Amino acid sequence: MSEHIYWKDDALYVLDQRLLPFKETYIRCATVKDVAKAIKDMAVRGAPLIGLVAAYGMVVGLQEIMKSRGRVKESDMERICRRLKETRPTAVNLFWALRRMRNTYKEFEGQDGLLEAMLQGAIDMHVEDVEHNRQLSHYGAELIDDGDTILTHCNAGALATGGYGTALGVIKAAWETGKSLQVIATETRPYFQGARLTVWELREQGIDVTLVPDNHAGLLCQQGIVDRVIVGADRVARNGDVANKVGTYMIALAAHDNEVPFYVAAPLSSFDESIKNGDEISIEERDGKEVKYVNGRLVTSADVTAKYYGFDITPARLITYIITEKGVLEKPFGKYIKMLFAPGKREHHNGSH
Ligand code: MRU
Repeated sequence: MSEHIYWKDDALYVLDQRLLPFKETYIRCATVKDVAKAIKDMAVRGAPLIGLVAAYGMVVGLQEIMKSRGRVKESDMERICRRLKETRPTAVNLFWALRRMRNTYKEFEGQDGLLEAMLQGAIDMHVEDVEHNRQLSHYGAELIDDGDTILTHCNAGALATGGYGTALGVIKAAWETGKSLQVIATETRPYFQGARLTVWELREQGIDVTLVPDNHAGLLCQQGIVDRVIVGADRVARNGDVANKVGTYMIALAAHDNEVPFYVAAPLSSFDESIKNGDEISIEERDGKEVKYVNGRLVTSADVTAKYYGFDITPARLITYIITEKGVLEKPFGKYIKMLFAPGKREHHNGSH
């Protein structure tokens, strides 16, 4: 797979994930409107990637103003931030990345090198994300046994991040150490992140993958076919409750009832230390049309009401381990999350959103 997000000639280029695996088409984002649309319409998706695209989006937005007016004001920066924040509400990485970029703006405000510093800030975040994914994948790989069959939901691979991936990163890292693995990917209706993206990524790596409809997790756990479940996260609360793609909670229930270990792989940029538990996470509701139409074809009665909640909350009690770049967290998650975010350890987790 080639770079799915890169900066070239004063613009951000993103691979349009809606067209995969059939077409590899890039979208050129040269205005903040282009960037916001790419996130909102899910040309790009996946919590860490949304954060990175928004970070580059800040540069795009400031550059746009500088080209037309020669200088930017703090109110311009705040307007760009607001515009990008309004795109998708659940993945905390978006708010985290914008907060970091806002801090960089404040540091370089009024200086000649402001734009260069902002671009460097976005590039640094991108590089760090890949490094963190590799680190957490290395830790997670130790939890995988040779011969395991692993079920994953949605897409938490390289495509959903700056590179390498989180849940799929763990699978990849275990496979790279020579473990023989089989992966079961759920389709993940209605966007088909599993069928279109996870299957594509794993096959590119040469990892054996079987596709199942979303409603198979219960049966597969009950029949002893699944050895472990690994998923990513859009937001982890202080107590370890996790928001991830809708359907994750049902899979966690099935895993728990059948004593199948359930792992969440997430970088610290997906943790929200400002919220106590999952009740405080805002769940995105998307247009019901996305359920009613598959590839532009109506698959139900035209006038039926359809609902599409993008995410659900898996309570901490159903999660065996949370895998981060700092190591594997066990229960009680709250205790270890608190230690990770203690003053002096919080790195770039300062400020609130
Ligand atoms: O709606 P999406 O495709 O952005 O949702 C993505 C997920 O739910 C992923 O599992 C999550 O962002 C983790 S990606 C490393």
